[in-house]
Amino acid sequence: MVAPLSSGAMPRPHAAADRAADGLPHSVARVAVVGSLNMDVVLTLARVPQVGETVHAQGLRYVPGGKGGNQAVACARHGAQVQLFGSVGRDHHGNALRLALHGDGVDVEHVEVHEGLPTGSAVILVEPDGQNRICVVPGANARLTLPEDALLHALVQADFLLLQLEVPDAVIEQVLQAAHSAGCRVVLNPSPVRTLPSAWWPMVHTLVVNEVEAAAFSGLNVDSQQSAERAARALLAHGPQQVVVTLGAQGAVALCAAGSHQAAPVCSRHAARQVQVVDTTGAGDSFLGAMVTRLAEGCTLAEAVEWGIAAASLCIGVAGAQPSIPARAQVEALVQPATKLE
Ligand code: RIB
Repeated sequence: MVAPLSSGAMPRPHAAADRAADGLPHSVARVAVVGSLNMDVVLTLARVPQVGETVHAQGLRYVPGGKGGNQAVACARHGAQVQLFGSVGRDHHGNALRLALHGDGVDVEHVEVHEGLPTGSAVILVEPDGQNRICVVPGANARLTLPEDALLHALVQADFLLLQLEVPDAVIEQVLQAAHSAGCRVVLNPSPVRTLPSAWWPMVHTLVVNEVEAAAFSGLNVDSQQSAERAARALLAHGPQQVVVTLGAQGAVALCAAGSHQAAPVCSRHAARQVQVVDTTGAGDSFLGAMVTRLAEGCTLAEAVEWGIAAASLCIGVAGAQPSIPARAQVEALVQPATKLE
């Protein structure tokens, strides 16, 4: 049974938004990320093979990825201070991933290096329309363990924790409990989708799902903004305070629970941006990094979702996961274009 956040929660420093308003140092967003690190093996194909068929790929690339790593990079490129908890093998791919993350300014002190286990990998098939199919081989991600004290310390400092489902259930359970004790708001991206214990839902502050995940969790058909809003309302009843449903080319829907400022849940609908799709890999991760950083900075959910959509639209115009995650200035230029002088 989960106690309410106020009872027994640890004392917390000011949130980034309040730090800025009070003129305190460290108005920079602080985000902790727990998640997977994969080396993506990306095959570009004219079309994916059918059963029993062999086809030629046009190219093969090794690209840093993994939902945890991608979301950490997305937050860092938006200017957040990011502490990442993850796991790689003691091998070439593990070194390359840690180096890339460090190069992006992500704190990788708590990325553990496993002896005798390969770094996680993902085989990604990309067709000319930019749509992908992904098979993940967990490797060291399946053995992730978390240093309790360091995790709690990070969560007490963080404005938000970002979590996905490419790590073991025991880790997710531990992280949710720790975030609860630390009073840290959890943003859950439940991907790859699977059934979640009902006790987890109230420990999630913001749930971010795509249309497939929204349909799986709500049992409703999700193929439009209207149906996404219905699904978001059903998911809100499970316990989160905010639900965002992303719909690809159909934009997104965001729903905030009723609270002291609003008598009923507030829903906002957001259009997608028109772009030439090269590769959709990492679009969801770019969305999350931009959205969470802006939430930590004090934006409303609707504002933060606009940033997420802009980030995702830039990401899908470039191939690969981490190479395609945009920097803050690029996103800002889309969301707040400079006023043109006559
Ligand atoms: O979200 C995209 C990511 O999913 C890829 O980088 C791949 O590694 C898988 O984790």
